[in-house]
Amino acid sequence: MHSPWPVSVGDLELRTPTPGDIDQVVAFRNLPEANRFMIRTSVDPDQLRSELAALATSTNDYSCVVARDEEVVAIGFLDIVDGIGQPGRPTGTEGVIGYIVRPGHWGQGIASAVVPELLRAGFDGLGLRRITAACTAANTASARALARAGMRRERHGIADEWHAELGWTDSFGFALLAAEWRLDQGRDQR
Ligand SMILES: CC(C)(COP(=O)(O)OP(=O)(O)OC[C@H]1O[C@@H](n2cnc3c(N)ncnc32)[C@H](O)[C@@H]1OP(=O)(O)O)[C@@H](O)C(=O)NCCC(=O)NCCS
Repeated sequence: MHSPWPVSVGDLELRTPTPGDIDQVVAFRNLPEANRFMIRTSVDPDQLRSELAALATSTNDYSCVVARDEEVVAIGFLDIVDGIGQPGRPTGTEGVIGYIVRPGHWGQGIASAVVPELLRAGFDGLGLRRITAACTAANTASARALARAGMRRERHGIADEWHAELGWTDSFGFALLAAEWRLDQGRDQR
């Protein structure tokens, strides 16, 4: 499968990380603000470096960095996974997306710009059938960015996620099918 990157949107470039980008991601990935709502609240820097370096040749992880004027302002996650189902189901048809915007760059519309590009890369670039995303319900900005991109909130888990400060807390699951995405794109162009 060809990488869907690089892609430019406004003044942002989504790309497979360069060695310089990797250093920048390592510098912010473990900041407490970045991790408040992440499930992996800390990532070993060496492991992170090898995960990011492996993206260039991965066939199931199309995560990217988001750069503005050579500064990495976000990471976008795009993993190919198998959908659930009985034996014989097609494999590798689903994507899971996520993102971390670098602290100091929040509230500038970066997540809102990145989510549609992750969807486009998954549906148009990788030919996926369905893309999902999940967030802690209290992570209002994340839920908003997903909804704004047209993703359907199809799960509201009640007290189903452990959060270090909040204890057992609610979570949301979002999803979108390729057919719905295409319909939406068609509507935008009319
Ligand atoms: C959540 C996060 C990705 C949002 O990124 P961002 O670039 O600041 O988001 P945007 O500027 O595109 O804003 C998205 C929406 O949330 C709203 N928003 C932004 N900051 C907000 C805040 N602190 N509280 C409530 N809403 C907020 C915006 O107004 C916008 O809503 P709108 O479409 O109604 O205008 C960012 O805060 C982040 O990376 N946090 C740490 C990592 C994380 O939580 N990742 C997601 C895990 S699911």
